[in-house]
Amino acid sequence: MKIGTLDIERPVILAPMEDVTDRAFRQLCKRHGADIVYTEFISAEALRRGVEKTVRKLQVDAVERPVAVQIFGSTVESMIEAAAVAETYSPDFLDINFGCPTKKVAGKGAGAALLKEPEKMQAIAEAVVNRVGIPVTAKTRIGWDHDSINIVDVLHRLEDAGIMALAIHGRTRSDMYKGRANWNWIAEARRHATIPVIANGDIWSAEDAIAMFSQTGADGIMIGRGSIGNPFIFSQVKHLMKTGIVAPPPDYRERIHAAIEHLRLSVQYKGEKYGNLEMRRHYATYLKGLPKVSQVRNSLVREENWEHVIEILLSYEAECAGYAREGRIKEYAEYINDHSDKLVLNY
Ligand SMILES: Cc1cc2nc3c(=O)[nH]c(=O)nc-3n(C[C@H](O)[C@H](O)[C@H](O)COP(=O)(O)O)c2cc1C
Repeated sequence: MKIGTLDIERPVILAPMEDVTDRAFRQLCKRHGADIVYTEFISAEALRRGVEKTVRKLQVDAVERPVAVQIFGSTVESMIEAAAVAETYSPDFLDINFGCPTKKVAGKGAGAALLKEPEKMQAIAEAVVNRVGIPVTAKTRIGWDHDSINIVDVLHRLEDAGIMALAIHGRTRSDMYKGRANWNWIAEARRHATIPVIANGDIWSAEDAIAMFSQTGADGIMIGRGSIGNPFIFSQVKHLMKTGIVAPPPDYRERIHAAIEHLRLSVQYKGEKYGNLEMRRHYATYLKGLPKVSQVRNSLVREENWEHVIEILLSYEAECAGYAREGRIKEYAEYINDHSDKLVLNY
């Protein structure tokens, strides 16, 4: 798949996720095999106003590359200004969010709302493409609702605007996160495309990733929720693509050590207080399904010293060794494919 000078065969990509794909998580996923990573979406309006917290989200590290910065906004003016600022942080490419369904974004005419105004979407894309010297890509959904699926029209408009690749989440805005993503519409768009198509939506395992490639013909695939608490998914997909063999699921030790690695990176980038605080929402997914996990989680989310958090995790690892000897540890694969209690999403 080519985006400007970037050329990666069948890339497995970390999706942009607000409050998730910060520098720490991007780096962790990279270590586990993600080919390309995206920042969280970044508000063009906030960038324009120089809001410090927003500007900080533009920072990317050499080890993350190739990395995309994603921006969202509802006007040509704010988007070209934001694009110019984003470019100074030297991402490998810039991505425009045309898919966010939430009130705070779509409710203000940005993100998925632009699926209802394809001319405006095209105008924004074209203006951003003309403003910056780096490649520009976009990410969207298949339509606003089931009566207005317009992904093929949107694709052509974005191609005309000079967009270099399009990531498609196989849901409409009105689906939010309900039901299953519709991969057929991604396949349909791919058949019409002259630019690379990146397929997204409901890849929860290495097998899903292979199925996504083959059912859609996509040039790349993008994984969001399936990577939360499970950065191993990238190496598992790569392993299956390369060998045709499904890698064994990570055991409790690997999962606990991934949580520790994530915490270290989080503290490195955000400092002890925020790095530690922001990690709290991740422990549930790293440790999901392990014995007596609620007790350890309770102590993890109360502990303010991050080094003590690591001690708690290491002593839990020792405890788990005992459970493993008693055969009380479930296979990871058994519950990672059970999404009945999917993360509560406010995106
Ligand atoms: C917590 C969360 C935050 C998200 N934030 C963004 C975002 O900032 N930009 C974006 O384009 N999509 C965002 N998404 C959507 C994902 O990138 C992806 O399209 C969606 O989750 C479907 O893929 P999945 O089934 O692999 O999770 C977010 C999704 C989640 C769950």
